[in-house]
Amino acid sequence: MKRKPMMAGNWKMNKTISEAKELALALKASAGAETKVDVVLCPPFLAIPTVAGAVAGSNIKVAAQDFFWKEKGAYTGEISAQMIKDGGCASVVIGHSERRGRFGKVEDDLVGEGLGPFGDNNTTVNTKTKAALDAGLLPIVCCGETLAERKTGKTDLVVKSQVLAALAGLSGEEIAKVVIAYEPVWAIGTGEVCDSAEANRVLGMIRGALAELVGDTAQAMQILYGGSVAPDNIEELMAQPEIDGGLVGGASLVAEKFQALIDAAAKARGGCCGCGG
Ligand code: PGA
Repeated sequence: MKRKPMMAGNWKMNKTISEAKELALALKASAGAETKVDVVLCPPFLAIPTVAGAVAGSNIKVAAQDFFWKEKGAYTGEISAQMIKDGGCASVVIGHSERRGRFGKVEDDLVGEGLGPFGDNNTTVNTKTKAALDAGLLPIVCCGETLAERKTGKTDLVVKSQVLAALAGLSGEEIAKVVIAYEPVWAIGTGEVCDSAEANRVLGMIRGALAELVGDTAQAMQILYGGSVAPDNIEELMAQPEIDGGLVGGASLVAEKFQALIDAAAKARGGCCGCGG
């Protein structure tokens, strides 16, 4: 089955409001009419309304990088699904490795090892996934192993358990709306992209896990690869049948580079309009 590719730019903690507007407007000019690829921009919270305003009337969608699952209340520093929706988001990234605190440690300098200070775990990721769907936001749920886990042969075990935990308790209809992003922690921001055949293998394994939950519907679900995606490796990645696009950090911060990724995704799945034909 041909799936419509997605290219999601995760800007992380980059871009002031005016810088975000400039990048969004540049991408609206180059990719605003794109129909073969789902183009998604994930700015920092503060820039969401500005970016949503800048791309309004185009095919580009806006996503938040995280949120808290409670509707409202005394949660200092947090932001709700309703707030990011109100700001113009259609989607939200959940469980990025930079937000997971897998072993409960808080050392900031261990973020690269999957030990971030922000405390997401499989349970909070599951709660956030449910809350996002309830609010009508499309979740982009991240999973991925650390280098230590890969070296000890635990990649499939870790990734599958993250995916199953994220989707626990959801109906088949809900699961079908979720986008999964496989992001090996060791490949994020390091310039060390995962070998494309290996990324394809892991994505195939993830699709198998999804099929256990939703059967053939898994064939229609978008699964992304993330981790040092760049113009010089995107063609090879998109040539892999299981890879439906990218969740992109560094290369999404420069309009020309992100546009090159969108173009490569469109070319790789040329002729497909996402209609399933
Ligand atoms: P990167 O980040 O493209 O800079 O490696 C990817 C991500 O964290 O989503």
